[in-house]
Order: sequence, then structure tokens, then C-alpha cells
Amino acid sequence: MPSYTLEINKKQTTIQAEADMPLLWALRDKAGLTGSKFGCGIGQCGACTVHVNGSPVRSCLTPVSSVADQRITTIEGLATSNHLHVLQQVWIDQDVAQCGYCQAGQIMSAAALLESNPKPTDGDIDNAMSGNYCRCGTYIRIRKAIHTAASFYNAAQEVQS
Ligand code: FES
Ligand code: FES
Repeated sequence: MPSYTLEINKKQTTIQAEADMPLLWALRDKAGLTGSKFGCGIGQCGACTVHVNGSPVRSCLTPVSSVADQRITTIEGLATSNHLHVLQQVWIDQDVAQCGYCQAGQIMSAAALLESNPKPTDGDIDNAMSGNYCRCGTYIRIRKAIHTAASFYNAAQEVQS
């Protein structure tokens, strides 16, 4: 079986897998990172969203061979230096999750949005999050939390500049 070296959450990780194994399987079953969830398996629900080189991708549809030597970030790698990512903190503060199953994917999509667009409008948020489904219907709380996180994010950027 071939092996692939992936940079997962800033750590080089070698995985033995068939070339067409979905990245989601490699993350969950080989690397032991179970934060990314299996929902539909066909790229429609967003539960499996991770970042590859900073962009959100559906890991259920991404062959592991296509991301060798690429920079992969999962929900487990979003926090830095023992500090939660601002989105994770706001998610907790505002009790966004209901059952929680979709929320890792929601946060990963939201994190990619804030990186590319730190001051998103409602429309920007709805557009960026449109591929992430929540069967518990937490969409209103998600949108509010992204706005709150964006305000913290921008305040932090101003302090640093
Ligand atoms: S499990 Fe990947 S998009 Fe649904
Ligand atoms: S919180 Fe339950 S599916 Fe989204």
C-alpha cells in the first residue's frame, strides 16, 4: 500500500493508504482526528470540511493522494498556543451548537471566510456557508456568531497594527 506524507495541523504525518482513500477517512481512521464528521459522503453537507492550504475543501471527496505535502488544517488544529480560535470561543459563548454534529464543518468554513473577508455582510456569510447544512437549524446563531467573531477579529487586527 502506498504511503503519503501530509502536513496535518503543522505536523508531518505519514499515512499508508490507497491513493483514492478520501482524506476524511485518512484523518479519522489513520490520523485519529475525529473532529471532522461524515455526513453525506458526496460533497453536499459540509460536515467534513477542512482546510487545504487555507481553503475549505470537502474531505469526503478529496483523495488522500491529491493532498500529499499540502497544508491541511482540521478543527483540532484551529486553536493556537492554547488559545481557542475566536470563532470557537464565540461559538461557546453564544451556545451556537445544538446536537453539534455539523459544527466542526461550520466553523472551518467560517474560519476560511474570515481569513479572506474579515468584514463579511449577511450576504457574504450566507454565500460562504451555503454548503454547510445544519439539521438542527442553527443558521441564525451561526450568522450572528460570525459577525461577533469578525468584530473581535478586526479589533485584534487594529491593536496589532
Ligand atoms: S460528508 Fe463531506 S460534504 Fe457531506
Ligand atoms: S447542530 Fe445539529 S446538525 Fe447542526
